[in-house]
Amino acid sequence: MANIALLLLLMLGVGCSSIYDRDRGVVATNTPSLREVYTDYFHLGVAVSIASWSAQTFDAHQHLVEKHFSSLTAENEMKPDAMQPRSGQFSFGVADRMVNFAAKNSLKVRGHTLVWHNQTPDWFFKDSAGRLIHEKTEISGEDRQLVKERLESHIEAVMTHYAGKVYAWDVVNEAISDGGGVHRPNSPWYRIFGDEFMEIAFRKAHEVDPNAKLFYNDYNIETGLKRDKTVTELKRLLDAGVPIHGVGIQGHWGVTYPNIREIEQAVVEYAALGLEIHITEMDVEIQGSSEERQAERYREFFRLFKKHSDVITSVTLWGTTDDSSWKRNEKPLLFDKNQQPKPAYWAIVDTEKTWRQNRAEYAD
Ligand code: XIL
Repeated sequence: MANIALLLLLMLGVGCSSIYDRDRGVVATNTPSLREVYTDYFHLGVAVSIASWSAQTFDAHQHLVEKHFSSLTAENEMKPDAMQPRSGQFSFGVADRMVNFAAKNSLKVRGHTLVWHNQTPDWFFKDSAGRLIHEKTEISGEDRQLVKERLESHIEAVMTHYAGKVYAWDVVNEAISDGGGVHRPNSPWYRIFGDEFMEIAFRKAHEVDPNAKLFYNDYNIETGLKRDKTVTELKRLLDAGVPIHGVGIQGHWGVTYPNIREIEQAVVEYAALGLEIHITEMDVEIQGSSEERQAERYREFFRLFKKHSDVITSVTLWGTTDDSSWKRNEKPLLFDKNQQPKPAYWAIVDTEKTWRQNRAEYAD
């Protein structure tokens, strides 16, 4: 019994800076704060969740968040279905807990997200007879006006509530098409407004909170045709005077993709438009390879971010521990299910060294 208690203490690393793990040998528990490591480069953020149907990381992982991160994103709690589940009924309580925690621990808050085709209740798009407007063959001016008022009043209420507390907003999320056209063709927003909805959203957001940094956020916009389309579309909007301050590259990546040079090219192209760059939802799928290879990828990515830290001002991990990730089967994050640092964590402690060297340095 006493032996088991001792073993448990050792496993928890109480009072010592390293523990012995049967599979991994000596494992450091003296873990440097990533927030401090990156303080001169960019804000290091993390997404947390309270929503009842997703992993409850906000309460369970608070010490990891406090120690390692300087920015917070609600994984689901600021999306339209969470903020305004029914027309005119706002529900700020859950997200407010996160925002208050952030204020207490000097974390910035990134707001995610105001206008999206997912996690947005149908009522936004229904006419007075209860019909979905984007499914009609003919959309009238009156229909458009109704949805425009809802879009604007949603932005107004949410951004007013969080003014001074949320410093940056993903105003529009995932509007560019993965296929041939420029815009995601089956988004209700696009079907109702055509390419005008981005402009409506950003102009309203800027009017409501002129101090907030306004971002366009999307995935796979660092490579290929989707990058070209995004650059062209953002340029068109900026030329028309639409207030867009930054681009959010989500960063849902893997061990084999994308190519680092492609990401660098994207950084250069977006920066040339005068935009700030945030990496907003980073995770790296292990794709059946090893934690070591995944760590090497994290190192490469963070080397690139540091090289361009004049324009990359925030990097957010999309979750805390592997088991709570939306891609839990891919083990894509920095900490394992016991909240212990993985090789990926050690890899970014100092990107000039290998993860093993970094871990050894802290294993006393
Ligand atoms: C995901 C969350 O992580 C999940 O918990 C939820 O079930 C679905 O949404 N792009 C985005 C994020 O902009 O909001 C998504 O988050 C992941 C893809």
